[in-house]
This record gives sequence, structure tokens and C-alpha cells, in this order.
Amino acid sequence: MSLRITRTSSPQPLPPADQLGFGQYFTDHLFFADFANGSWTSGEIIPYQNFQLDPAASVLHYGQALFEGMKAFKHPNHEMYLFRPKFNAERMQKGAERLSMQAPPTDLFIEGIRELLKVDARWMPEGVGKSIYIRPTLIGTEGFLGVRPSNHFRFFVILSPVGQYYSNSSKAVKIFIEEEDLRAAPGGLGNTKAAANYAASLRAALKAKHHGYAQVLWLDTSRRFVEEVGTMNIFFRVGDEVWTPRLNGSILEGGTRACVIQLLKSYGVIVHERDVALADLQQAYENRQLKEAFGTGTAAVITPIEEISSQKIAWKFTEPSENSISQKLFKDISSIQHGLSPDRFSWLMKV
Ligand SMILES: Cc1ncc(COP(=O)(O)O)c(C=O)c1O
Repeated sequence: MSLRITRTSSPQPLPPADQLGFGQYFTDHLFFADFANGSWTSGEIIPYQNFQLDPAASVLHYGQALFEGMKAFKHPNHEMYLFRPKFNAERMQKGAERLSMQAPPTDLFIEGIRELLKVDARWMPEGVGKSIYIRPTLIGTEGFLGVRPSNHFRFFVILSPVGQYYSNSSKAVKIFIEEEDLRAAPGGLGNTKAAANYAASLRAALKAKHHGYAQVLWLDTSRRFVEEVGTMNIFFRVGDEVWTPRLNGSILEGGTRACVIQLLKSYGVIVHERDVALADLQQAYENRQLKEAFGTGTAAVITPIEEISSQKIAWKFTEPSENSISQKLFKDISSIQHGLSPDRFSWLMKV
């Protein structure tokens, strides 16, 4: 691939590795490619900088914006590995189809990211729990008014060295059940990473934070069934089996969710992808069968939940221990990601 690279003349100092947090720092460069007249440019790496956009660009008026979230890790042999990049390329392609956008082909998506990681390799933090978070983004750039899909698109990738997603990530989080706002509805955009879904989620997330909760638990349109958490899919351990909401079209098909299901099956745990009714969970809670709840996501990895509450519900979970499924999953996924145990499901791709 003939990719042009322009290196920055003023590289930034690296942030302190113990204070990375999440999404606070960006590396020195970005990758972009443009779509016009039916084809993609071969892409370019340039110093991190502002873009110029036509004020009539479709992303600004009609919300043609879609993104991905993925990670790269440094292994003990100092090589960098991407975690399931093909999955993210394909999820962006599915989302683009729903939003009438042109998605970058898988090769362009992956090669752009790989080359950018090579250029900004010095930003890769060392140590378990640290990685480079990758934010591939697709926007409609054609300037016009009158509602129709854009004919021009920009695909770009920025990188952020990250530590933990939640500031108290060694601990479990509290989740508030949102009963007024809806994130998504059947037939809508819920199963895409459309920027619009996150705009719809912000008010409820702020309200939950204000009351001391990390994120919200979204319900379906009937307000009877559990869908997902702000930036995570959700799992429940009921007895010795595990329930997670099925992919009903309005929840995001999480990459971590798929890995967790694969791991659980490899442990011999029975996993039910099903409609998860609040009433069924309440009954399991009363019968002392609701033993664990945890969220899964690229940013949050596996995050145990200590409390799920609403006006009517108050489920409390005991602190995760060596026997918790969430802890076992966290250890297994993290050690595969960081190259500390064999990549037995072929999830990794060398940069
Ligand atoms: C709404 C939502 N659900 C679920 C997830 C988890 O998806 P993944 O495991 O692919 O990161 C995310 C995270 O990006 C999300 O934003």
C-alpha cells in the first residue's frame, strides 16, 4: 500500500505512564483516507492536527458519523499486537450500510491502523492494563443542504495511550437503571456505533453520575428487558449459568461480548443469549441465585458490577473474589491480550 507519511517536527513529551487514565492524551500523528468519485484514496499519515470541514458537511447536519473502539498491546518480546481488528473493520462496514455511508475496505482499515501504530510506537505504554486505544472514525464530508446521504467521506484514526477506563477500576462499579430515556429502538441505530447513539445517551449518563453511579443500564422500549450498559454489554451469573441479552438489533454487538461467550463455553459454562427480563432477575435475586453481574467492552475489559439500582430495584453483589467468573474472564482476556498466555482463539494480529 502506497501510504504517504509526514512526520511531526515537534514530537510531544510522553505522559506519565501511571497517570494515563482514559482518552486524555493523543499521539503525535493521525491516519486519514478520503472517499470521493467512487473510490478511496490510499491514505496518509500526518501530524495530529485540526481538520477543515465545509460548514454544510453532512456529519454536522445529518449526523453521518460512525466510530470504532479497539486496542493494541505490547507483548513481553516488545512486539505490538492488535486485538481482533477484522471484527472492528466489519462492524464499521455494517454500521456504514445502515447509515448510508461508504466504509473503508478491511485492508485499508487495518493497514492504516498498523502503519499509524508503527509511526507512533514510542507512545505504547508498558504493563498489564495499559494499551493504545484506537479510535477509527468515519464521517460524511460533502457540503450540501437537503436531506440525503453524503457522497464524500473521511475515514480517520487517532490513538490514545490508556490505562484504566473507570477511575476506580480495580473496584466494581454501580449502575443505575434508566427508565425514562431510551438509547435505541428496534429498527433504529442501536446495533451500530453511530455517534448519534452516544448523543442520545449523555443526559441519562450525566444524571446517573450525579447520583454516584458509573453508568446507566439501558432497557428496551417496553422498559421490561435489559439491553446493555453505557459502553458495555452486560452479563449475569444466575446459579452456575450465565445470561446475556441476545443480539436483538438494538444492542451493540460487542467484540468483548463475543470473546466472553467463547471463553465461558470453553470453561464448560452454559451461556444463555436471551431476553433478560428485570422480573426474572428480581426473582433470581430473591432466590439468592443472582450471583454476579459484569460489563464487557474494549475500554472497560471486564468490569464487575457491585450494585444495580432504580426507584424499585436494589441489587447488591458481593465483592469479586478468586471464584468470580468476572475475575477469571478478566485474567484470561488480559493475559491473552498482553501476550502472557497463548492466543488460543487466534484473536491477535501482529502490527
Ligand atoms: C454501547 C456499547 N455497548 C457495548 C460496547 C462493548 O463493545 P466492544 O466489546 O466491541 O468494545 C460498547 C463499547 O464500545 C458500547 O459503546
